[in-house]
Amino acid sequence: MRDAFGQPQTAILFGGTSEIGLAIVDRLAAARLRHVVLVGRNPSALEDAASALRARSVTATVVLADAADAASATDAVDQAFGALGAPCDLVIMAVGLLGDQAADDDSPERTATMFVVNTAWPAAVLAGCRAALVAQGTGQILVLSSVAALRTRRANYTYGAGKQGLDGFTLGLAESVRGTGVTVHLIRPGFVTTKMTGHLSPAPFSTTAPAVAEVAVTAVMKGTPVAYAPGILRYVFLGLRHLPSALWRKLPG
Ligand SMILES: NC(=O)c1ccc[n+]([C@@H]2O[C@H](COP(=O)([O-])OP(=O)(O)OC[C@H]3O[C@@H](n4cnc5c(N)ncnc54)[C@H](OP(=O)(O)O)[C@@H]3O)[C@@H](O)[C@H]2O)c1
Repeated sequence: MRDAFGQPQTAILFGGTSEIGLAIVDRLAAARLRHVVLVGRNPSALEDAASALRARSVTATVVLADAADAASATDAVDQAFGALGAPCDLVIMAVGLLGDQAADDDSPERTATMFVVNTAWPAAVLAGCRAALVAQGTGQILVLSSVAALRTRRANYTYGAGKQGLDGFTLGLAESVRGTGVTVHLIRPGFVTTKMTGHLSPAPFSTTAPAVAEVAVTAVMKGTPVAYAPGILRYVFLGLRHLPSALWRKLPG
């Protein structure tokens, strides 16, 4: 249960090795977080993250799941809530796969995997979490979308389109839980320097995982439905979404 100040004490992080996800957990651990379940595919990286949290007196449990297997979503949700063994205050969805657009372009298999990992599996997991949190009558869901969802680009259109699906699903999910005691918060970061983007040159307005975590935790605490990281991207993309295609394709990043 959230404490008297509304701080989450229990959380599940889907994408348990995500740099942004772990930065969010790190901030929560500095407040009132007592138990977190890390869900992911890499046992040793998950154990490393769990050990670091245990050293800070947070109970951390690992659940294995491969987001490239859409059918595993139900099991992942059941195992995560089972491992928590208590009402869940906060679900964080941080799974994401940037892919390699040149390799994805002509590959039906790679394209399908991109949509499973970025859209189908997260949406299926969120549906399961919705049911569990509504049954509790309380809880928050935080979803990491991207400004890439707002308008697809040649450089990463498969990723952007996958995020568009998740972004739209999350907005609908937020409407669907109105009045149930559950709230949904969507974060749209720009370019964040993490292992996902380490091979790329930073785009304009690039930011860091701790800075995104601050935006995300503030959104959860204040009940903000949609937040951008950094915040200025809300206004930048108001214009960019309507830029003529000839200009849009010339932009850097
Ligand atoms: N970095 C950015 O510029 C940026 C910008 C906007 C939005 N975002 C979004 O923010 C979220 C977190 O990204 P990040 O920057 O923290 O990158 P990250 O560290 O690479 O995190 C991505 C997470 O997705 C997991 N994942 C990928 N494929 C998976 C699979 N088949 N099965 C299970 N887990 C899988 C990764 O697990 P492994 O560690 O095992 O690969 C990792 O935990 C993602 O949703 C991303 O799309 C990132």
